[in-house]
Parts: sequence; C-alpha cells; structure tokens
Amino acid sequence: MAKEKEVQLLSAALKKAHRELKAFKWLAKACGSYTDLNNLLDKFMNLITKIMRVEGGSLLLLQDNKLYFKVAKGEKAHKLKEIVLEPGEGIVGYAAKTGSPILVNDVKNDPVWTPRIDEITGFKTKSVLAVPLKVKEKIIGAVEVVNPIGAQFTTQDLDMLTSLSSQVAMGIENVRLLGEASERFSEINALFDVSRIITSSLAQETLLTSIMKSATRMLEVEAISLLLIDEATNELVFRVVLGEKSSEIKEFRIPINESSIAGWVAKNGKPLIVNDVAKDLRFNSRYSKKIEFKTKSILCVPLKIGERIIGVAEAINKLGDASFTVADEGLFSTVANQIAMATENTKLNQDLRDLFFSTVRSLVTAIEAKDPYTKGHSERVTDYTLFLARALNLQEEEIEILHLAGLLHDIGKIGVMEGVLGKKEKLTEEDWKAIKQHPVTGAKILEPVKPMARIIPYILHHHERYDGKGYPDGLKGEDIPFYSRMIAIGDTFDAMTSDRPYRKGLPVYVALDEIKKNTGIQFDPRLAEIFVKEYKKKMSSHPIPSPTMPEAGCLGRQVGEGSRER
Ligand SMILES: [Fe+2]
Ligand SMILES: [Fe+2]
Repeated sequence: MAKEKEVQLLSAALKKAHRELKAFKWLAKACGSYTDLNNLLDKFMNLITKIMRVEGGSLLLLQDNKLYFKVAKGEKAHKLKEIVLEPGEGIVGYAAKTGSPILVNDVKNDPVWTPRIDEITGFKTKSVLAVPLKVKEKIIGAVEVVNPIGAQFTTQDLDMLTSLSSQVAMGIENVRLLGEASERFSEINALFDVSRIITSSLAQETLLTSIMKSATRMLEVEAISLLLIDEATNELVFRVVLGEKSSEIKEFRIPINESSIAGWVAKNGKPLIVNDVAKDLRFNSRYSKKIEFKTKSILCVPLKIGERIIGVAEAINKLGDASFTVADEGLFSTVANQIAMATENTKLNQDLRDLFFSTVRSLVTAIEAKDPYTKGHSERVTDYTLFLARALNLQEEEIEILHLAGLLHDIGKIGVMEGVLGKKEKLTEEDWKAIKQHPVTGAKILEPVKPMARIIPYILHHHERYDGKGYPDGLKGEDIPFYSRMIAIGDTFDAMTSDRPYRKGLPVYVALDEIKKNTGIQFDPRLAEIFVKEYKKKMSSHPIPSPTMPEAGCLGRQVGEGSRER
C-alpha cells in the first residue's frame, strides 16, 4: 500500500514537472514571437493559473509610478481592472516596490496585506504569491497568484513563478521594442516617399544625360561635358561627359583658381567662345594631353541658379572644323539653364536620399546595439551585397533597393531576446526557434510601411538555402528571390569573417573557400562563383596581409553555422 502511494506521488510529481516544462517551452517561444502585448499577457496568465492550480492571478504593469491591472484571472477578476495601486500597496504592490518576491500563506496575519482590494471585488483572498517583473534591473510591474486549490504555496512555487515571470518580462520588453521599431518606421514612412527617393534621383540622372545628348546634336560638336563646382575644394568636377574618352575625362578635377577656360567661366559667370584654343592663354592643355585628345575649339557657358554659379557646360570641337557662333552661345546658354534646374533638383533629391538612408542607418544601429557582436553587421552585409551587385552590373535602381534591403535584412532581430543573441553556449532548440523567427518578424515590422513593401520578400527570404534547407519557407533554387540569394552570400561572408561570442572570425581566404564549397548547396552557384572570383580579384589588387590559419574549432564549423544570427 505504502509502495502504491509512493508510486502515485512520484507519478504526480512527474506530471507536474512535465506540465512545468511545457509551460517554459511555450513561454520561451511566445516571448520571441508575440507582437501583441495584450495577447501575450493574457495567454501567460492563463498558463500560470493553470499550471500553478490557483483560484486566480493577475499581472500588473507600472505606468507613471502607478500599478495597473493589465490582466486578471479568476472569479470577480474583472472588477480588479478598475483598481489602481500605489507601489507598496498590498502584497503585489510590495513586490513591485521592493523588487523582491513574497509568499504569504495567511494574508490576515500579514502586515503588508490590505483588505481594500477584496472589499471592492468581493473576493476572499487567503494566500498570495507575488513576484516583481524586471527588465535588467528595472522593475516594470508584478505578477501575483492567489489561493492555491487544496494546498499551500511552497518555495518551489515561488521559484517557478519567479522564473516564468522573468521570461515574460523579457517578452514584454521585446513587444515594446518591436512597437518602437514599427513607430520609427511609420515616422520614416511619413517623412519620405521611399519609392520616389529611389527612382527620382536616377530619373534626374537620365534626364541630364538626355539633355546633354540633344545639345551635342544641336550644336554639332565632338564632345560635351557638364562640370559642377565642389564648394568644399573649389574644384570643378565632371558630372556628365559625352564623347570620346569620356570615362578618362570623368576622373579629372579642375581647380577653379588654376588657369583654364572652364575655370574662367566658373569664376566670371560669363559665356566664352574660344575658336582656337592654341591662341588663348586661358586654355590649359594639361588635361587634353593626358588623355591624348586634341582640343581645337570650346564653347563654355556658366550654369546658374539665380546669381549663384553652380558649374559650367562645355562643348568641344565644332564638327567640320567650323567655328562656334553667337547663335550657338545663345542656344547652349538656354540648354545650360535647363541643366542647372535639373541639377538643382537632383541635388535636392540626393540630399533627401542621403537623409533617408542615414535615418534608416541610425535605426539599424540602435537595433544592433542590443548585441555588441553584430555591431556594424548590416552595414557590412550591405557593402558585400552591393559589391556583388556591381560585379553583376546591376542598374542603379536595383542597387538602391538592395542597399535598403541589406541595411534592413536583420531588422527582425529586435524580436529575438537578448539572452539568446549574446549566448556563448550552444544554442538550444528553443533558442534556434526564436532566432529563425527574425526574417518573419522583420517582414511584419515593415508590412505597415507601404513603400517598403517591395523589399519585404528579400528580407523574408534571406535565410533560404539554394538546396531548400533554409528558413522560413524552405524555398529552393530560383524560387528564392534573386536579391535574397545575393544578400545570403554577403550575410554569410560577414558572419564567417567577424568575431562571434563563441568563436573568432575566419580569415577572408578561408571564408571564400567555404562559400565556394557551398556553391549550389547553400548558395546560388552563379552568384557565389562571381562573388568569390571578384573578391579574390579585389584582394589581389589591394593585397591584405597573408592569412593566418584559423583555429581548428573555426574550421570544424559548418558554413551554415557561420550565418547563425546573433
Ligand atoms: Fe538574418
Ligand atoms: Fe544577417
């Protein structure tokens, strides 16, 4: 008989332990994935009251130094919502004020207890277990459970409530951070017309080039160029160059104070016709000689916004050895006005674009601050991805989209608890689940920000693998969005080459080899091949110190693990 009793007790204890374990598992997952605070807290209190077998329980949050009942469970619980407590008032108030857990099995004999709450609700409290809710050392509220059914509270109950509550406190903090991020994005949404920012500066560029092209035809000249004043250095910088040797000419910067025709026009703000440059002292032959271009005649007009000179436009060598006329000068001056306006617009758009990207960057930096090991990660991933984009000769518009997607690819990490991100030990299955949620969370954050819609798929799928073994959707091969496949390479390359809490970064050569080895497995074969080839080329033109061999532990890791998000 005694044996039977023992077995019964043991089986009850096992069942209890199992229930508790399940509760912990659920909570760990919920705290990483819930975005709605009320929903999370409600589910949490349902769980607590069920596994602790109590008549009721509530969760209170501190706001403006008052305690508000956010969730209350049990008979008469709805009446609690009308009550506001001072910190220190009653047993739960005591926990919230002192930051210490408290166990009272007979409230009537406890000096901290106050009958006020029962008087309002009509509930009969007998025993209370209350623990504070803390985020780092800051108290944000408290949780209490009352009247265990057919038993007394024990210190084990207290320990369990304490650890469950510390989990939920992190969940509350995560929801708050998520809310903050969404709010910041809504601000960005209100401030910037993102699609316009991406397309208009490029459209302006095309407009400038087409104006210049038609000027070349109208004036019947060999070459034409647009130079803008760089106020910081007082130089003329080539912005658009059409004609022979244009790419070489673009590299030049002409100091305004140095003798040259363009410099003279920029300084004096007046048009100038020089039909035989050899006879004009202002002509500077240095640039033409350098590129072996024979300059014979020049028509140069200033670009003005009101009275301000912003640059010059130059037409070179009238075709058929003809001379520039006053009519040409009038025509080119009209074109110059158009160009000046278009340039000014482009500059405004460019400023807006820069402001937009720096706002996004500051938001990303704030998120990365959660985990010192990923500091600068998004920026570096963007650099690698854009490096690949340039190697692929992608259009500027595509590059802008990739730029944004690269910066924001890990925005969802704000929903991964700090405890997991900074962990040095091996990650548990639950930790992995929380981490794998970040692309989905990222997509959720950006969803309400309409202009960001186009980058959402690239963020959502940046952890898919070419062989279909990635997450969140297990997409395979070309089903994975092209830009996601590009980001995946930049992401893994940075993850492998930078230091992490559990290992040192791999040398670049080793990381490139890893990418090569995983071609067609983790990465798009064509993209991976181009990345590795171009990166090696870049390294040989800018040699880096010869690589040191990594520690054995580094080599032993899977490349997939290298991209473990921290
Ligand atoms: Fe990621
Ligand atoms: Fe990443």
